[in-house]
Parts: sequence; structure tokens; C-alpha cells
Amino acid sequence: MTPRTPATPTGGAHAAPEAVIRVRGVSKNFGGAAALKDVDLDLYPGEIHALMGMNGAGKSTLVQILSGVHQADGGSIEVNGRAQSGLTVRKARRLGIACVPQRRELAMGLTVAENVMLGDLPTRRGTVHWRAVRDEARRALSGLGIDIDVARTAASLTVAEQTMVEVAREVRRGGRILILDEPTACLSAEAAGQIRALVRTLRDDGVAVVYISHYIDEVMAVADRLTVLRDGGVVRSAPAAEMDQAGLVRSMVGRDVVSRRPERPPKDEAGLVVRGLSHGRAIEDFTVEVRRGEIVAVLGPAGDAQSKLFDLLSGRQRPDAGELRVDGRPVPFGRVPASLASGLRCVTGDRRSLGLVPGMTLDENLMLADDRFTRCRLHRRGELARRAAPRRDSYGVVALSGNPPVAALSGGNQQKVLLGKWLETDPEPRSFFRAVTSAS
Ligand SMILES: Nc1ncnc2c1ncn2[C@@H]1O[C@H](COP(=O)(O)OP(=O)(O)OP(=O)(O)O)[C@@H](O)[C@H]1O
Ligand SMILES: [Mg+2]
Repeated sequence: MTPRTPATPTGGAHAAPEAVIRVRGVSKNFGGAAALKDVDLDLYPGEIHALMGMNGAGKSTLVQILSGVHQADGGSIEVNGRAQSGLTVRKARRLGIACVPQRRELAMGLTVAENVMLGDLPTRRGTVHWRAVRDEARRALSGLGIDIDVARTAASLTVAEQTMVEVAREVRRGGRILILDEPTACLSAEAAGQIRALVRTLRDDGVAVVYISHYIDEVMAVADRLTVLRDGGVVRSAPAAEMDQAGLVRSMVGRDVVSRRPERPPKDEAGLVVRGLSHGRAIEDFTVEVRRGEIVAVLGPAGDAQSKLFDLLSGRQRPDAGELRVDGRPVPFGRVPASLASGLRCVTGDRRSLGLVPGMTLDENLMLADDRFTRCRLHRRGELARRAAPRRDSYGVVALSGNPPVAALSGGNQQKVLLGKWLETDPEPRSFFRAVTSAS
């Protein structure tokens, strides 16, 4: 679509335009500990406002308050100049505030058209007017420059396309303040570029966009204004043009950051060898060799092949053909215990349904794959906490206080628990399989 003049001058002083959202002194406690402290934030139409901060800084909590998921414990929120008390999701939506969370929320079995129009299907003589559903959905997408066939099912879309459909749905429902929580977190560079283009289109249409991302280059490229949170408080808020990368990182972390990673060349020993791996049409004759001390990235469009590779290497499924070796020793396919006993650890990309047990605590999840835990000895509370503590330290897992359910951790901290759980395990874990299956 043709670029329009932004509704406000971006990056400059905001003398003329009215803030669409004005947050003053907002605080939020969970179980007595402060997740947000005295937060101020102004959002303007026609501006991309990036929220930055380390894992657990309070970004998601803040946008969940704006979109009515959580209620603030103190402070005030004005939307379009009117004070709001007790924002709920429904109320926020009526005010034009919409949040596209990181996890996609489309009905996967339905078409794109149905998803865009869900909750507002046009009818004729008492039945759904399907042609109008498709036409209106098409208009909603093309109005944002999105080129997706509305007859496709949501399940057939790439993650980036699913995000676009969610954005189109929110804009069609009247979203004028759009919050995107890590919209490019798992995307290829090209797909992330498509999302950024869409975000710029929204901005040029006068939408106020809140953009959460951990990618500093991306944020510097797309944002008009940046607000940095640290430990629940705003440490800096300024036009993007006034910040440089080093300053931004310093604000996020609270000190200068120097990389102390020693350069160590990989050894000349093959650690992991996969040869001629084939499975249906998802994987055909895949071969890769990873030396000790080496990181190998396997690239490809998001989809079936990655999850299939995970299932095959972890022993969850048996391939049609192929060979797997760890440290030169063959590993049989199709058996999770054999894969684990070889020393191979597969960390799922689907931490919510395959990785963590949401009803268990942080420490229990961290120790779950540990042989000793499953033999019940660690169930004695003090012992569990004592063993989990060094893992929390080495993976930098931060909770507001104590040992909360793992689901109460911030997204990034959940990811650290998932890594810590697998990377710290016994090399020969006999009771792993039980632990894994009962956990899933
Ligand atoms: N429902 C909850 N119950 C208890 N604590 C919570 C809850 N939601 C968030 N927290 C805590 O509030 C703090 C801020 O979390 P939040 O999810 O806002 O962080 P974030 O900045 O989005 O981090 P990330 O980059 O990891 O997603 C964290 O310490 C988290 O554990
Ligand atoms: Mg978050």
C-alpha cells in the first residue's frame, strides 16, 4: 500500500498530539513482591514505542495491565484523556487497546477468513453469509498490505502469517493501540522483516504501537521511542534517535557490558553425527556433523522439519532411514532413554506443552529431569531447594520471590529453567524416561 504521512511527527517533541495512553505511577505486586514500581509511560498515535528490558524487568506485566489482563495495584491510567479504573480485557478492547501475545491464538482448524471475522460473522436471513465473511476478511488484510489467501486454514500458515492475521483481526475490531509482545522472537530474518513492514504500516495509519523485542538492532531500526524497564521501574524513556546501542544496553543491564567469552576453536572430534536421516516428506537424506565445541545452526522455514528432527533425535519417533552417532557410538532410534543415555539432550521449542510442568514450582521443574529427583529422595523440600540453588545461579533464573510455580516466571526465565533442566542432568539417567513422560 502507499505509505501515508505519519499522524504525528515521530521522534520529536510531542507538543501537539495528545497521548492516547498516559500511565502515571503504576505499580503491581505479585505475592507481596513488586513486579512494577512507579511506572510512567506515554503512548502517542502514529508512533512505534519499544519496551526494552532484561528478562523479568516487567515488560509483559506492564502491557498486560494496559490490555486489562492484570489490574494495577496503584497509579493511574488515562486512555484518550479519560481516567480509567478497573480496566478489563473487554473494556480495554472497547477503548481500542489490543494485545497480540507471543503465543499465537488463532483457531487452527478454521480458515483465515473465519479467524479474522470470529465473533462478528455477518449473517443473511439468519445464517452466516460466507461470501461476506471472505470479502470482509480480504478487505481487512489488503488494507494492511497483507497478501494471504483467506481460504487457507490457520494451521497452514507460517508463524509470521499467523501474527499478521491476528494483527488484521485486531485492527478490524477497532484496535488503535496495538501491543505486540515479542512478535519476531522465533522468526527468520525475512519473516521478521515482513512483521516490521506491517508494524510500520500500522504506525503510518496512526495506530499507537507498543513493540516488545529483545533484538537491539531490530528495535533501533523500527522504534520511534524507547522505554527501558529494569527491575520493574522505568530507567529511561527517550526518542530512539537520542539513544545508541551501547547506552541502551547499559540502561537495560545497569552497568557496562563486556563480552568475556573466550574464543576457543572447536576440537577435531565429531561429537554428534547424523547421516542420511529420512522421515516421510518432512526430512529427506539429512546429514550433519557437529564437532565438540562447535555450534551448528540448521536453518529452514519454520514448520514440520524442525519438530520432526527434534522427535527423531530425542527418540520420540523412529525415522524411515538414517544413522545417529554420539562420540562415535551408534545410538538406536525410537527410544528416549537410549537418546538420553548417549548424552544427547533435546530442548523442545514448545516449552509450554512439552517442556515445563506449569503446575510445579520453579525448583521442581529445574530438577525434574534429574535422576535423583525421580527417585523421590529430593522431594524433601529443603534438599530440593539446596540442589536447585546453584542451578538457578548458573542459569541466571530470577523470580520475584521464593519458589513460585514455573508459570509465574517471565517468559525468558521459563526458557532458562528449561535449558537448566536438561543441561545439568546426569549423563546416564536411568529413570529419565519416566520423568519425561509423566512431565509431558
Ligand atoms: N502471575 C504472576 N505471578 C507471580 N509473579 C509474576 C506473575 N507474572 C509475572 N510475575 C513476575 O513479575 C516479574 C516481571 O515479569 P514479566 O513477565 O513482566 O517480565 P518481562 O520483562 O516480560 O520478561 P521476559 O523478557 O523474560 O518476558 C517477573 O519476576 C515474574 O516472575
Ligand atoms: Mg515477557
